[in-house]
Amino acid sequence: MPDERGRARGCANNSENMTTEHLFLRACLRQAVPRRPVWMMRQAGRYLPEYRATRARAGGFLNLCKTPELACEVTLQPIDLMGVDAAILFSDILVIPEAMGMELQFLEGEGPHFPNPIRNAADVAKLTDPDPEVELRYVMDALRLIRKELNGRVPLIGFTGSPWTLATYMVEGGGSKNFSTIKKMIYADPVSAHKLLERVTESVIAYLTAQVAAGAQAVQIFDTWGGILSTLDFRAFSLNYIKRIVQAVPKVGPDGQRVPVIVFVKGGGQWLEDIADTGCDVMGLDWTTDPTEARRRVGDRVAFQGNMDPCVLYAPPEVIAQRTRAMLTAFGDDPGHIANLGHGILPDIPVEHAKAFIQAAQAEIGG
Ligand code: CP3
Repeated sequence: MPDERGRARGCANNSENMTTEHLFLRACLRQAVPRRPVWMMRQAGRYLPEYRATRARAGGFLNLCKTPELACEVTLQPIDLMGVDAAILFSDILVIPEAMGMELQFLEGEGPHFPNPIRNAADVAKLTDPDPEVELRYVMDALRLIRKELNGRVPLIGFTGSPWTLATYMVEGGGSKNFSTIKKMIYADPVSAHKLLERVTESVIAYLTAQVAAGAQAVQIFDTWGGILSTLDFRAFSLNYIKRIVQAVPKVGPDGQRVPVIVFVKGGGQWLEDIADTGCDVMGLDWTTDPTEARRRVGDRVAFQGNMDPCVLYAPPEVIAQRTRAMLTAFGDDPGHIANLGHGILPDIPVEHAKAFIQAAQAEIGG
């Protein structure tokens, strides 16, 4: 049965001859799979009581990120408890600005805070260029440890924020409702804005290169805030830098396997062709993008990841299963779909509901 399904999904259109047994990596490269892989963005997090217990032991979120044994422990929790088909490094996108010299605080229940945000060219000039094996050594140690502990069970995804998304936090000083401070910078002082994005891009390239060397088997670029820009500004201030990263990240890992690059632009549905043109292997879609329409627009040059509205997980488990099956059908039967949510799982989702999503995605029968 699995073999038949694999054949029904067709052959890889990928030029590389390298093959892998992992469902997730195969789907990223549009190779035939016996069933679709599934994982959830933010799968290691507060909806899991086990995560909350480990975070309490760590004495806070940043300590958890900076203690490789504990970061490893929470990375593995959704593998053991939920049975997902990929692990994602436990960390945060904001460790990059911190490594570039900015003080970072995570205040309980309030999200991230930079007490001294970037506001002008002088602030940009004060940023440093971190060596990932020095300032971000704890991330590399966590990756090495996770690979060892996973022992080949599922592949390990590394990640970064996009330069634009990182810059929004660095300039706003934290989360924002209307992003007026970073938008003021791009319109009133575009030279400093581009300088900042250049510096972050360089750090991100070094960071992802080191993640691949340390064992990340795929990497995801989160552009959570690309969708707040006009088309013109998205291309100039976000896409352009994402493209440079996609082009620069090593395509092959130390084990000789292809390392797929996933680009997730939340709210990026109107720029699908531009995003595919970055050369990424996989595009993350949010729930506002119709899968059939997305495939029609970009053809078969990329795989898709997504895209159920995370709020569907508030529905009863039978409804979650129904909606998950509907999503799989909408993505169709050709290879190159990784089931996921269209954004991170929310902290107040019952564990049983998250399991209903994973199980429905894995129990897929028929096309
Ligand atoms: O997906 C995973 O399980 C891996 C871990 C991961 C975290 N953050 C852990 C985290 C990943 C991939 C991220 C990415 C991230 N971080 C993004 C991009 C993806 C997205 O969700 O849009 C962004 C914008 C951030 C920045 C960030 N970190 C914010 C805005 C917040 C506060 C809001 C919130 O969700 O709490 C965080 C904190 C954070 N990052 C938590 C976790 C588990 C919660 C902190 C806690 O446990 O108290």
